Amino acid sequence: MPTLKQLFEHNKIWADKITKEQPDFFDKLSQQQSPEYLWIGCSDSRVPANELLGMLPGEIFVHRNIANQVIHTDLNCLSVIQYAVEILKVKHIIVCGHYGCGGVAASLDDNQHGLIDNWLRHISDVYRFHKDELAQLSGDNLTNRLCELNVVEQVANVANTTTLINAWAANQNIAVHGFVYNLHDGILKDLKVSISSS
Ligand code: CO
Repeated sequence: MPTLKQLFEHNKIWADKITKEQPDFFDKLSQQQSPEYLWIGCSDSRVPANELLGMLPGEIFVHRNIANQVIHTDLNCLSVIQYAVEILKVKHIIVCGHYGCGGVAASLDDNQHGLIDNWLRHISDVYRFHKDELAQLSGDNLTNRLCELNVVEQVANVANTTTLINAWAANQNIAVHGFVYNLHDGILKDLKVSISSS
């Protein structure tokens, strides 16, 4: 692990490299951002939105929380969605989960994890909605299927926000997608649950 001092050194190297390739990069970007994508992903350090999409600063607006959830009353996430849709006018919202998600796995065990259990309770709800299918599975198969179903549920939650309902009512061109990332090979999978109108 790098030390804090090394982090600043890495930052300097990174900024110098970009400036060398494109001298006006930071100048231009400091004027305004106009990303076409909003990413709603897990906080997991192994799932970095920009890097895995090969995107530079300025190309994707990002919100991350534990287990990539879109909770109906989470002002943080709802504010990100509103700003992204109404001000930045992103064209795509990507909800991205990942296989082996620790948050999803924790929602499945019987242990207490403290405050976070209240956050993970929403994933237990997803389990309940799909109990018939999930009760047939166990181990990694169960966790990974719940990771997928959690994404599907969060895509629906994005689509049901007042922001998206109003955007689609105004014929704004915006779609919501559900992806899952595989930690083992770095590959994204489209769950093909995209929604582009109400
Ligand atoms: Co996770």
